[in-house]
Amino acid sequence: MTTPLPDLLDLRGAHALVTGAARGIGRAVVARLLEAGARVTAVDLAQCPADLAGAALTWHRADVRDAAAAARIVDSAGGLSVLVNNAGVYPLAAWDDVDDDAWAAALDVNLTSAARYSRLAGDRMRRSGTAGAIVNVSSVAAVRPVPMLVPYGVAKAAVRQLTRALAVEYAPAGIRVNTVTPGGVRTEGAAVAREQARARPDAGFRTGAPPLGGPGTPDDAARAVLYFASPMSRYVTGAELVVDGGSLLS
Ligand SMILES: NC(=O)c1ccc[n+]([C@@H]2O[C@H](COP(=O)([O-])OP(=O)(O)OC[C@H]3O[C@@H](n4cnc5c(N)ncnc54)[C@H](O)[C@@H]3O)[C@@H](O)[C@H]2O)c1
Repeated sequence: MTTPLPDLLDLRGAHALVTGAARGIGRAVVARLLEAGARVTAVDLAQCPADLAGAALTWHRADVRDAAAAARIVDSAGGLSVLVNNAGVYPLAAWDDVDDDAWAAALDVNLTSAARYSRLAGDRMRRSGTAGAIVNVSSVAAVRPVPMLVPYGVAKAAVRQLTRALAVEYAPAGIRVNTVTPGGVRTEGAAVAREQARARPDAGFRTGAPPLGGPGTPDDAARAVLYFASPMSRYVTGAELVVDGGSLLS
């Protein structure tokens, strides 16, 4: 007997932790997880948007780079079964201006924090015998170099490999680890980057629309996260779902 389709997207009983949840893709992910019936713990520098607030959502105003806060937050998330490493920053900088501090800052938020939350959440799921899911958010910049985003692209490329390494590490515990790779999604962060790119017409940014047209919506990326977080992807680990309107093809 096959599982009825609605049951495959039913996350009642699940507890999901989402980083970078206040706006953009993270916010759309939280909305979809709540809609699917999950309890959600959210982490962001910003406060909880009023329209997301509710009994099923616990909000932590914290920096994902803060290791002590990460430990506290994961510890407080009872029955944790889903982690979405979404928090990311992508300020544009010419390669010649990327000093050691800028390099470290890009890796800290985009890679190290995802690794830390994965380790804490994975350990917790493993110890409690929870067959959970970790979803890492990478970027098309990890695949095709984007001008003025060198450290970001390197960090996001490492996130893809983090996914694959942890998929093997956690498979015996039944914890699946997958990557969603967005590109061209209309968010507040992307709007800032677009403005910065406009000010540098000499930098060689691509300006054409992707094959499906664009831009994508935060919910386009959230749907891919929901696929990996839910029983829809029961037999999928170490995989990557690119949500970019086909931009990597052109
Ligand atoms: N928008 C796109 O087209 C696109 C493309 C590729 C990848 N991505 C990735 O998707 C993810 C979300 O991007 P977005 O466009 O929604 O970004 P956004 O800037 O619109 O939102 C990011 C959220 O993360 C939070 N955040 C940032 N740094 C944080 C920190 N140190 N601690 C806690 N919270 C922090 C911000 O406060 C914000 O709420 C990022 O990982 C980004 O790299 C986005």
